[in-house]
Amino acid sequence: MSGPLATRLTRDTGIEVPLVCGAMYPCSNPELVAAVSEAGGLGVVQPISLTYVHGHDFREGLRLIRSLTERPIGMNALVEASSGTYRRRMEGWVDVALEEGVRFFVTSLGNPRRVCEAVHAAGGVVYHDATERRWAEKGLEAGADGLIAVNARAGGHPGDRTATQLLAELADLGAPVVCAGGIGDPEGFVRVLDMGYDGVQMGTRFIATPECRASEPYKRAIVEARADDIVRTERITGVPVSVIETPYVRSVGTEAGPLARWMLSHRRTKHLMRTIYALRSLWQLKRASLDESGERDYWQAGKSVAGIDAIEPAGEIVRRFSRAAAEAAPRGGAPDGPAG
Ligand SMILES: Cc1cc2nc3c(=O)[nH]c(=O)nc-3n(C[C@H](O)[C@H](O)[C@H](O)COP(=O)(O)O)c2cc1C
Repeated sequence: MSGPLATRLTRDTGIEVPLVCGAMYPCSNPELVAAVSEAGGLGVVQPISLTYVHGHDFREGLRLIRSLTERPIGMNALVEASSGTYRRRMEGWVDVALEEGVRFFVTSLGNPRRVCEAVHAAGGVVYHDATERRWAEKGLEAGADGLIAVNARAGGHPGDRTATQLLAELADLGAPVVCAGGIGDPEGFVRVLDMGYDGVQMGTRFIATPECRASEPYKRAIVEARADDIVRTERITGVPVSVIETPYVRSVGTEAGPLARWMLSHRRTKHLMRTIYALRSLWQLKRASLDESGERDYWQAGKSVAGIDAIEPAGEIVRRFSRAAAEAAPRGGAPDGPAG
């Protein structure tokens, strides 16, 4: 897309505003994905969230989104290969998404080669999650077209670099780079576009919306939290996840238990422990996001909570951020130039 907000991301995807609602397990529901895309951004489907949390058959869920918007949407493919069953299921979801017209994919964790081959054959693009240069290089070698640069302020599984450090590390790879983490207000959006990022992926900001089906206590906690209320816990998945430090999180601590740590550190038991974590965390996070009592729960959020002070419709967020960026344009970086 051309226009004041054109970047390599908008051109790769056909969207108007270089703003992505990142995939969120368990918070991505069809209405949220559709609302972001309908407003000119890009909503990304999280398949396990769509099916297991929100109860849709995968294809029907995509069609539900299509009934709410005809604009482009994306899909997140976690390409972790340790379970063959999971890998086959994920590949099946990619095929269905392609059949249903999805042309933008975000891959995370493993090697995205198979996804890239399938998506390229259908004329789509793949952006790969990277927390540092070495994962970015692997993703690009496997065929990815762009990068989602996950920094230390992100919700979900954060990286350990600042947005500035990460762009400096990735810019010369020549691929579009999207900033993920820490952006909760229009000022932050404008700032990172000015730095040379091709777009922004937000998660936490879009949870505090009427369209997101997360519980009201969870949304209120996001609105009320400050950046230093966000801590990392290993207790959910075995690797650090950003959560709001509620009294419950304080009481149970943030380190994996001794048995889990031991199992994770041994080759023979590592995969079993990861599977236990994966299954348990799916259930735990599903319950936590939907439970209106708000007790004993893990509420995932990033440090972008600092810029979030109201529950606001998702489309309004996209339009507000878009206006701010359009008013700030023309920016320093030429849209066709390398990011950074
Ligand atoms: C509740 C929650 C769940 C997430 N789940 C996923 C996921 O399933 N897959 C993924 O690639 N990223 C996931 N993320 C990361 C987001 O897609 C996005 O990159 C991140 O939220 C950006 O940081 P922000 O929360 O500060 O905006 C999740 C983030 C949150 C807050």
